[in-house]
Amino acid sequence: MVEEKNLTLEEQDRIRRMKWWHEARFGMFIHWGLYSVIGRHEWAMEMEAIPVARYEQLTKQFNPKPFPAREWAKLAKRAGMKYMVMTTKHHEGFCLFDTHYTDYCAPKTCGRDLVAEYVKAARSEGLRVGFYYSLMDWHHPDGARCAEDEAARKRFVNYIHGQVRELCTNYGKLDILWYDVNWPLSAEGWESAKMNRMVRELQPDIIINNRSGVPEDFSTPEQHITAESAGRAWEACMTMNESWGYHQADDAWKTPKQIIRNLITCARDGGNYLLNIGPKADGSVPEESVRILNTVGKWMDKYGETIYAAEPCDVKRSVFANFTRKGTTLYVHVHFWPGEEWAIGGLRTGVKSVRLLPRGEPVEFEQNEFRVRFKGLPAEAPDEPVSVLALECESVPTQDMMFVRKNMPRNSQLR
Ligand code: GLC
Repeated sequence: MVEEKNLTLEEQDRIRRMKWWHEARFGMFIHWGLYSVIGRHEWAMEMEAIPVARYEQLTKQFNPKPFPAREWAKLAKRAGMKYMVMTTKHHEGFCLFDTHYTDYCAPKTCGRDLVAEYVKAARSEGLRVGFYYSLMDWHHPDGARCAEDEAARKRFVNYIHGQVRELCTNYGKLDILWYDVNWPLSAEGWESAKMNRMVRELQPDIIINNRSGVPEDFSTPEQHITAESAGRAWEACMTMNESWGYHQADDAWKTPKQIIRNLITCARDGGNYLLNIGPKADGSVPEESVRILNTVGKWMDKYGETIYAAEPCDVKRSVFANFTRKGTTLYVHVHFWPGEEWAIGGLRTGVKSVRLLPRGEPVEFEQNEFRVRFKGLPAEAPDEPVSVLALECESVPTQDMMFVRKNMPRNSQLR
């Protein structure tokens, strides 16, 4: 942890604002828009070069069932997620919120402010609220030419800043602002610093991501889990199949085990995991996503304590397990259960006790300077998809991750 006393006021404020976010570890991303009607990925407009006037016709088919956000929020809560981030406007340019700046928005096409519904649903489940907002806009006439035409840039920046102001003014307290793709301008072109100052004036506690071209509060590795270097906050966002928006034929679903393993890796390295659903046009969540999240939720009910508020963990090396840490407790998350007896090599810290979660039955163990060996465990995995041991250590656990046996005599009598 960083020494708090030498921090600037801005850094201290960031620590205050981000406390809940670091503890939360797990959030739900929601990609929903007119592309959900097509059902061929949220980039359909661009990938299939659909003309604006033709794409606009989709508004006629976008009439969601009553209050689908309630289902999403309940699902997120069941899955053990603590916050949600929804697309208020994706690259297609269609706004799910009420805006003075365009008629291309849900309140004027289907008579509903879908962002207001979402905020209400998230709040009623006790979840934090995030807004995704795409700077890149394939619909607005200035959305591409703003790069070459200064008058267009000014108009477009006015449009974007105006909408961001609406989002930060009309929906009560917001927890996260999640910008996306800043093509075709730079941070200077978007006047991002000014825009984010406005955001912070309107929403003093808000957490802002890095995609307006300035670093702000956190980084956003996409579809991979890569920790940021010391102290910098990060959140890995990921799909459950290969698409963010609803894609009817995309059957490349990750297993619940893979999702849980990803969440563990994020928690191990001090990051968050933002996992996506792509609701259908009527707002219902694809069955496969519901099934996966329900399994993840059952696991989180039992093992959430090993994930929430986990601190960065230096122990990482195993071919059948992964690790998280809180204080001096090391959690060994076993995804390929090896059987009754097995060991973790290279642990440099004394182990005081070992328990099998979730109930905490004591586990017999032996430790020498090279390894800690567990005995008398069940032959079959005690739980699915991942079983967990909790090791109480004498100090913050660390691990020798290379050549753990180099100092062990080759004729060692150690067991
Ligand atoms: C990308 C994609 C987009 C998706 C986003 C999520 O930048 O363009 O479709 O919304 O990442 O991180």
